[in-house]
Amino acid sequence: MTQERKTAIVTGGSKGIGAAISQRLAGDGHAVVVNYARDETSARQVVEVIEGAGGRALAVKGDVAEPGCMKSLFDAAEKAFGPVTVLVNNAGVMHCEPVGAVSDADFDAQCAVNIGGTFRGLREAANRLADNGAIVSLSSSVVGLYQPTYGVYAATKAAVEAMTHVLARELGARGITVNCIAPGPVETELFLAGKPEAMVEKIRQMSPFSRLGTPEDISSAVAFLAGPDGRWISGQTLRANGGII
Ligand SMILES: NC(=O)c1ccc[n+]([C@@H]2O[C@H](COP(=O)([O-])OP(=O)(O)OC[C@H]3O[C@@H](n4cnc5c(N)ncnc54)[C@H](OP(=O)(O)O)[C@@H]3O)[C@@H](O)[C@H]2O)c1
Repeated sequence: MTQERKTAIVTGGSKGIGAAISQRLAGDGHAVVVNYARDETSARQVVEVIEGAGGRALAVKGDVAEPGCMKSLFDAAEKAFGPVTVLVNNAGVMHCEPVGAVSDADFDAQCAVNIGGTFRGLREAANRLADNGAIVSLSSSVVGLYQPTYGVYAATKAAVEAMTHVLARELGARGITVNCIAPGPVETELFLAGKPEAMVEKIRQMSPFSRLGTPEDISSAVAFLAGPDGRWISGQTLRANGGII
């Protein structure tokens, strides 16, 4: 990867973990496409922070569950900044319910974003990412925890890991690394929504560090895999979770 022209796309880059990844990759010299689905204000704020620090960024709306979204994001990135060198498949949704209570619509919605969005991101990157680039997709440590109510969400992330490990073998000849980051609980809207403080505290104490992860804990790990120090790491899932499992 050249130092001069580094361009990253971060899906769901406007909030939570994605916002931290966008800002970190910009700080590491990438021009960043900050994708968002609905909340333009948050995306613009991330772009302003990046530009205020001397970086380059562009907010691009698009729902990764829509079949044309990833193509549009690559088109926008190439037009604004040049060839894409890093893709971070970060956009994701989580709805926790016992398997017996999950509606078909909820199952389909989680699959459409978490599996469908990531699949189309991986496919577009397989065809358009610059040689020697990097792909990082967000899984979750719940894949290995088997906790009640996480059945469908964990299944979608297991699919992300499977596609990642296969694609790593398909793209290695071009010097492209393909990895997953599997965070434990991270203090974001997605994690905190609907959880009473007592439950949050119980989850905090599951970690030997007795705290939740921060978005920056995760963006550091993404920056490592996407950066020059991660070039011999591919086909891996890095469980960035404060030792929770
Ligand atoms: N937080 C955790 O504890 C945790 C743990 C393990 C894994 N993860 C994974 O980490 C990733 C980020 O999670 P987070 O906690 O940062 O989530 P978050 O705080 O809910 O932020 C989600 C971001 O994704 C965007 N987004 C949602 N649906 C989208 C769609 N269909 N298309 C494009 N963008 C979409 C949102 O934009 P809008 O607001 O505009 O919709 C927002 O920028 C997810 O893949 C999640 O599964 C999170």
